Amino acid sequence: MRRKNGVLRLMTVSFIDLATQQRRLRPEIDARLNKVLDHGRYIMGPEVDELEANFCKRLNVKHAISCSSGTDALILGLLGLGVKPGEGVIVPSFTFAASAEAIAVLGAVPIFAEVEESSFNLDPDRLVDALAAGQKAGLNVVGIIPVGLFGQPAALDRIATFSQDSGLWMLDDAAQSFGSTLSDNVVGTFGSATATSFFPAKPLGCYGDGGALFTNDDQLAAIARSARVHGQGADKYENERLGMTARLDTIQAAVLLAKLGIFDEELTLRQKAADRYADKLAGCGVIIPELSATATSSWAQYVIRLPKGTDRKAVQDSMRKDGVPTAVYYPHPMHTQKPYAHYPISRGNLKVTEALAADVLALPMHPYLDSTIQDRVVEALKAAL
Ligand SMILES: Cc1ncc(COP(=O)(O)O)c(C=O)c1O
Repeated sequence: MRRKNGVLRLMTVSFIDLATQQRRLRPEIDARLNKVLDHGRYIMGPEVDELEANFCKRLNVKHAISCSSGTDALILGLLGLGVKPGEGVIVPSFTFAASAEAIAVLGAVPIFAEVEESSFNLDPDRLVDALAAGQKAGLNVVGIIPVGLFGQPAALDRIATFSQDSGLWMLDDAAQSFGSTLSDNVVGTFGSATATSFFPAKPLGCYGDGGALFTNDDQLAAIARSARVHGQGADKYENERLGMTARLDTIQAAVLLAKLGIFDEELTLRQKAADRYADKLAGCGVIIPELSATATSSWAQYVIRLPKGTDRKAVQDSMRKDGVPTAVYYPHPMHTQKPYAHYPISRGNLKVTEALAADVLALPMHPYLDSTIQDRVVEALKAAL
């Protein structure tokens, strides 16, 4: 609580609280950063190798290829899978731009598919409609990019079955769902490869941009590693293919190594915060997020749905006045946005996507939320409604 002009004012709630985590880890982060400053290997230093080895062990995958962002992880994955201009890739329309952008910047064609109301993720029963739309548009459809939106993995087992039956690959966009599981398998191990992001606000975030690609496929990994550094061949100045500058900075690897040490504990804290929200929001008239019985979530976001017809902007304004920030992920489905509007959309329609975009609202979520703060969030929401 803060005193201003003799009046007690409640401090604004943090939407994401990185400061508390930093206070916990500051000595270790300082020590790790100092070590990098001492050895001076800022590009591909030993911390990058240590981090990649750590991920391989944690996920039990053969290859962890750290890189400069989640978007670049997706692009490296697509390059590794050999995606060519003009080929079609199925992706949800209800997602962050990068999931579709990675396809489009390579000259391939996103085919926008429908999501489920319950999970916000690709609807496995509607993949057939997306495939049909791609084929009708004359595309050679080659793969699917499911997204684990807000932290819950998509139905990766069912989507993998569909992709195998249809001769497609699956590249999981786990930018938000790193740390989650499905049927006791950790996300990062499904399909041909998995991309994730270490953007600061992500469940595992660094202090800048960062990402990683995970795969068991040796050839895919070799291409992605080469493309990460200008398509490098065996020799530094031999270029086998086109590539990018897409390495993870050593300094960011050092930060991630420190954060990985408490990541599992933070996932448990996020789950506890989600459970408390579910209790406190009961009877509020909003729809709370639903986890599939076989999934765990990394709770990158806690996203509710407002009652039909609610003026969402008015709710946000009212909550902001009460010191509670909110966000809308995502107000504009990809197929409605200018750079993407000309791409094919699923046969039938994307009605669920459009309904979700109209009524979702993200509440503050991070591992250090406590019950008192959550009471404030819920009171502000109730008052706004
Ligand atoms: C679903 C999804 N995919 C991809 C990305 C891209 O990650 P980055 O911002 O690290 O490029 C994000 C980042 O917000 C995301 O949420």
